[in-house]
Parts: sequence; C-alpha cells; structure tokens
Amino acid sequence: MDLLRTRIDLDAIAHNTRRLKELAGSARLMAVVKANGYNHSAPDVAAVMLANGADALGVATLAEAHQLRVAGITAPLLAWIWSPEQDFRAAIAADIELSVPTTAHARALISAAVPARIAVKIDTGMHRAGLAEAEWKPVFAALRDAEHLTISGLFSHLACADEPANPMTNQQGELFRRAIAVARSVGLAVPVNHLCNSPGTLTRPDLHFQQVRVGLALYGLEPIPGLDHGLRPAMSWEATITAVKPIGAGEGVSYGLTWQAPRPGQLALVPCGYADGLPRSVQGHLEVGINGHRYPQVGRVCMDQFLVDLGENPEGVAPGDPLTIFGPGGMSATELAEAAGTINYEVICRPTGRTVRTIEKGTQR
Ligand SMILES: Cc1ncc(COP(=O)(O)O)c(C=O)c1O
Repeated sequence: MDLLRTRIDLDAIAHNTRRLKELAGSARLMAVVKANGYNHSAPDVAAVMLANGADALGVATLAEAHQLRVAGITAPLLAWIWSPEQDFRAAIAADIELSVPTTAHARALISAAVPARIAVKIDTGMHRAGLAEAEWKPVFAALRDAEHLTISGLFSHLACADEPANPMTNQQGELFRRAIAVARSVGLAVPVNHLCNSPGTLTRPDLHFQQVRVGLALYGLEPIPGLDHGLRPAMSWEATITAVKPIGAGEGVSYGLTWQAPRPGQLALVPCGYADGLPRSVQGHLEVGINGHRYPQVGRVCMDQFLVDLGENPEGVAPGDPLTIFGPGGMSATELAEAAGTINYEVICRPTGRTVRTIEKGTQR
C-alpha cells in the first residue's frame, strides 16, 4: 500500500463536465487539461470530459498535446505555449492546433508552408501572450494570405474574472469584440472565438462568444470563493498514519520545537512533507481529517513528514489509519488554500513527490 495517495474521482469529472456544458449554453466547451489535467492525469480526465460533453481540449505545451495524441485521443486539441525553435511541424502532423501569440509565431507558421489549423491569441490587457492592437491588421492580413493556414478563431484570456466587480473584464470583452471585427474586416471568418476561463464562464454568459475554455471548474472547484454551482471536487489527498506516540506537557515537536504540547497527549506522524507538495506556509493552520474528526497539524512541516495533535486521543487513532489532507472528512482544497495563503488552483497542482495517484473509474468511463 502506498502511504501517500491522491484519489481522482472520474464520476465527479463527468458530473462537472455535464454541468459546465449546461452552463456554457450554446457555446462550445473546451476542456483545459494542461499541467497533466491540473494534476488529475490528463489522458484519464480528458477521455471522461469528451464522453460527457466537452467539444475540444486545450493544453499549454506541445509535449502535453502529444501525450494526449499518444494516448489515442483524437478530439480537437489546441496548444498555446510553443516556440518557433521547437519541432512545431511534428505537432501540426499530429493534428494539434497551434496558438499564434506573437508576430514571430505567425511568420514561422507562414514560412513553414504546411497546412495547419491555428487560433490567434489577442492581448486584451493581461500583457502575457497575444497580439497587441497595432499587430492585428498586419498579422491578420498575412495569415489570410497564407492559403495553407486555417484560422479557427481568436482567443484571449481574462485577467480579473475572479473579481466579478472588476471593470477590467468589460474592457477586455470590448477589446476582444473589436479584434473580431478587425479580423472580419480584413476577410478572416474567425468562426470560433473564446475569452472565458472558469470564473468568466460562470459569471459572464455575455462573454461566452462561440466557445468557453474551462479548467478549474471541471475539476470541481469554484474559482470564486463563496459561489456554488453544484460542482464536485474530483481530487482528494490522503496519507496513512505511520506512528502514534505520546508527548508530555511542555515538550516541543518538529524543527525548532515551535509547538509545545499544552498537556500530555498523543501525536500522529504523517508521511507527507513539502517534498510531496504540502506548502510549508500551511504549517500551524492545517486541519486533517481522521475517521470523521478534524485534528490540528502542529509544528513545522518537514521535507517528508508532519505531526498531528490528537489531544488525549479519545477516538483511538492508530497507526495504519487513513488521514485526509484535503478532501471529504478534511479541509477542502479551497480551505487549505486559504490556510496556506494561496489559491485552490495551486493546491490541486501540489500533490507530487511520493504521492501515488489512484484513478477511481466509477461508472462514467
Ligand atoms: C490560456 C488559458 N485558458 C484557459 C485556462 C483555464 O482557466 P480556469 O482554470 O480558470 O478555467 C487557463 C488556465 O489558467 C489558461 O492559461
């Protein structure tokens, strides 16, 4: 038995995909499975998402896209992070749609002279990837004249959609509309345009355009704390307790002895540390679940282990008992994120190191 496990509930992925498909309305649903499907195993979750209503997949890198093709996934697939220095022709040959985030990328695709499907990234204010307004007309015209290229549409990314009152989202929406109008004015049809990530999809149906590009919500987490769209978290993180031991009043635990037992009691030793992705910043704020009860983690999180205060251990916690770091019976990933001063996106990407992933296939395969 592995001492540290993530469980991935594919039934939850299926449920969330059907829910997002509903919320997307008439827009197509692109399921974002970059970063190994937000650390849920991209080939496994992608197959379930496609079987439950996703129309296309989106990833960051070419390697991520190839991994899905090698796994036998033939659905439309967009990759948005690549360099003209890479073997992008191999990606095109694998039927991977490429993003055009700069003029240099457009030039590379034009001079490659191989038929390719592309989506043009527009910078609407995030100043990350995407063409600036001054580049739109010349690049659109050059792409239009390259007969080997098929332009699926334009896309852009929202910077502040997780703050629903932030006026930036309206500004980005307006600029994106203008980019579409400019593209059409130079003769590009741009049939499938997309701007919304999870928070945009959930709160701005007016900005769905022809497709939404959803990651986090498909994994069952709300991108805006406090909202409830009936999603089911698909990942939980569990460990097996390796030891239960006594501690005397006033004795300290872990590096620096930063926590001292206020009374005699018992501690549980847990084989999970920052090398496994548990943020050190959560130390002293984490509560774990054991047999239906929550207990505080105490002292510093080490590289491989942490300790839990069982008090006088009235529930009889014993070595070999399972313990929830996040998931049912413990903190949610969102609660843990708040405790660690980060976001739930990061928390689900964290389990690594000695963690072994278990895919629960359920009924939705
Ligand atoms: C370009 C792009 N589109 C869509 C997404 C999905 O975002 P979310 O997980 O908020 O749905 C991401 C993720 O950060 C992204 O980088």
